Amino acid sequence: MNDDSPEASLDMSAVLEDVRRHLLWQEDAAGRVLMIDAKAAAELQRLTPSLRSRFARPASESPQSPAPVEPRPAAVAEPAADRGVAQAPTRPMEAPAGAPVAAAAPTQRPPAPPPAARPGFSSPPASASRAPSARPAAPGMLLDVPPQPSPGAAPLPGAVDGERPTLDQVRRELGDCRRCKLCTGRKNIVFGSGNPRAQLVFVGEGPGENEDLQGVPFVGAAGELLTKMIEAMGFRRDDVYICNVVKCRPPGNRNPEPDEIQACEPFLRAQLAAIQPKVVVALGKFAAQTLLRDSTPITRMRGNWRVYEGIQLMPTFHPAYLLRNPAEKRNAWADLQAVMKVFGKNPGSRA
Ligand code: URA
Repeated sequence: MNDDSPEASLDMSAVLEDVRRHLLWQEDAAGRVLMIDAKAAAELQRLTPSLRSRFARPASESPQSPAPVEPRPAAVAEPAADRGVAQAPTRPMEAPAGAPVAAAAPTQRPPAPPPAARPGFSSPPASASRAPSARPAAPGMLLDVPPQPSPGAAPLPGAVDGERPTLDQVRRELGDCRRCKLCTGRKNIVFGSGNPRAQLVFVGEGPGENEDLQGVPFVGAAGELLTKMIEAMGFRRDDVYICNVVKCRPPGNRNPEPDEIQACEPFLRAQLAAIQPKVVVALGKFAAQTLLRDSTPITRMRGNWRVYEGIQLMPTFHPAYLLRNPAEKRNAWADLQAVMKVFGKNPGSRA
């Protein structure tokens, strides 16, 4: 193999597949896209001609039709298991049209080895062990480059003069929101809670009944479990920031619909831009798929480090799903252990 070949620089077919999807997406988005770190961007540019010919869109795919593999933010029929709050049948997810997209970092496979202990999140676990293969190597490298605003990105709600907004500005901009139909049934907007300078942010799906009543995210049964998870990781709830993809309760705890996600998503992005955490934990399919604009089922995404706007992102199961499927707590705990490592915490410490 020639050292200059794409295989030598970006080895593994999974990486090449990511690049292929990027190129197709760029083509579809007519150049509105792409925010990756500068080194990767330069490398991608160098390789683009050969990658283009290697992964040329088959004649049968018109630029208007979705890419054949995981069409951009495509509808995915996932098992109810992948969902958080909602009990209703899964609805397809769509990404807001025309918005810029962060580059999908190569995922790490296989995900985690069997986790150390305490998948029940009832108390601090006893020991930390994690195979090197599960380390967040790629995102760590990407973090050497400070997060930058996506070129050509729509202004973030609350931002003034192109500056990053503060959380207060974002909240003010949200106002008494009437941007989607969820406003008709809500009692309270559930904006988010916790430390506005948090290094760690958890993103859920949308408020349930208790959250709607109190105006605070994750205060019901799923919230109780999330609080245990946070504490088992060696944080207090007040240390972190918690918010949701949609800020108003979907009636009957159904899934948020694409237009609702589309209306609310800029505010989630603005919240994360305001906080600039070190790590985002995406709880469940709606958070992971919305932020990453990736329709991969959460069962496949979880446990693999990704990058969102220069921020390390760990997709994992939603606590509501874990309540229904306690056997999966073991996997979720492995994901959280990987996050703890980024903060220099181990399952025995409560720093
Ligand atoms: N589930 C969520 O996704 N968010 C909440 O705030 C509560 C439950």
